[in-house]
Amino acid sequence: MDLSVRFAGLELKNPVLTASGTFGFGLEFSGFGNLAALGGIVAKGLSLKPREGNPMPRIAETPCGMLNAIGIQNPGAEVFVSKILPAMPWKETAVVANLYACGPDEFGELAGVLAAEEGIAALEVNVSCPNVSQGGSLFGADPRQIALVTEAVKKRAGSKPVWVKLSPNVTDIAVCARAAEQGGADALSLINTLTGMAVDARTRRPRLANVVGGLSGPAVKPVALRCVHQAVQAVGIPVVGIGGITCAEDVLEFILVGAHAVQVGTANFLRPDFAFRLVDELAALVEQWGISSWEEYRGSLEIPGKN
Ligand SMILES: Cc1cc2nc3c(=O)[nH]c(=O)nc-3n(C[C@H](O)[C@H](O)[C@H](O)COP(=O)(O)O)c2cc1C
Repeated sequence: MDLSVRFAGLELKNPVLTASGTFGFGLEFSGFGNLAALGGIVAKGLSLKPREGNPMPRIAETPCGMLNAIGIQNPGAEVFVSKILPAMPWKETAVVANLYACGPDEFGELAGVLAAEEGIAALEVNVSCPNVSQGGSLFGADPRQIALVTEAVKKRAGSKPVWVKLSPNVTDIAVCARAAEQGGADALSLINTLTGMAVDARTRRPRLANVVGGLSGPAVKPVALRCVHQAVQAVGIPVVGIGGITCAEDVLEFILVGAHAVQVGTANFLRPDFAFRLVDELAALVEQWGISSWEEYRGSLEIPGKN
């Protein structure tokens, strides 16, 4: 079967992308496989100005996953555009920029800088920044803010598709999904990490200097599948599924509940060749199960008593 997938104005070779913050800018992984074979690379989160990130330790292992509190360490949009993007394989695979800012205006400005770049296929908006003006709540938890940020990015994005990456740390993911759609999002990405914490009972200290962090890996997959399922029911725009993918069958689970594509994150840390192998594994599984097209398989979940 032809694994290529079309959505939101893009054509990807296959539905496997790498998730922001877990695959650097791709170049770091070029020794482990052919970057051009991937459906796409979502670059490390970018802000307008360079950021050093949070103090160490900022990673902790947990059963079936990990906690991180990196704090969007990155070289800033200007350095990315002038030095890093030209070295990325953007002619061979889709490069998606992941945007991080702390307000609609700043998001809009950042979108303007990145949208001007030919090498960027789409903008993915990370709406999980603590919103200082709202007393420390998350953008991602406030549907009104999600819509405002999406509108601000959309205004400056030109012809580039805008994906809005949602947080699972909300009461109703469907409400957030609809807010992004109403703000003009071309697609949704979900999920980002779940807030979590790890402590050392002997030393009586938190395992992260930041105390709390984001949980990712296989532990979050059921939450991610539930969020994707509910978002797909709530909106008419395509959804990219993320969370705990460790094998080709996991990819098919996300597509079964309606995702157009997926991103793989934590698994890249365990096996740096994971994403490359996953594309081959997916091709083999699709053949083995006799899936004839993504259109036929996508969203074909059968819920007894409901179909
Ligand atoms: C170390 C680390 C850094 C991350 N950095 C970002 C980031 O900069 N922007 C973003 O939107 N998501 C970031 N994420 C979230 C991932 O892109 C992904 O949504 C999440 O890890 C769930 O997928 P997984 O279970 O396959 O890892 C990061 C995750 C990890 C583990």
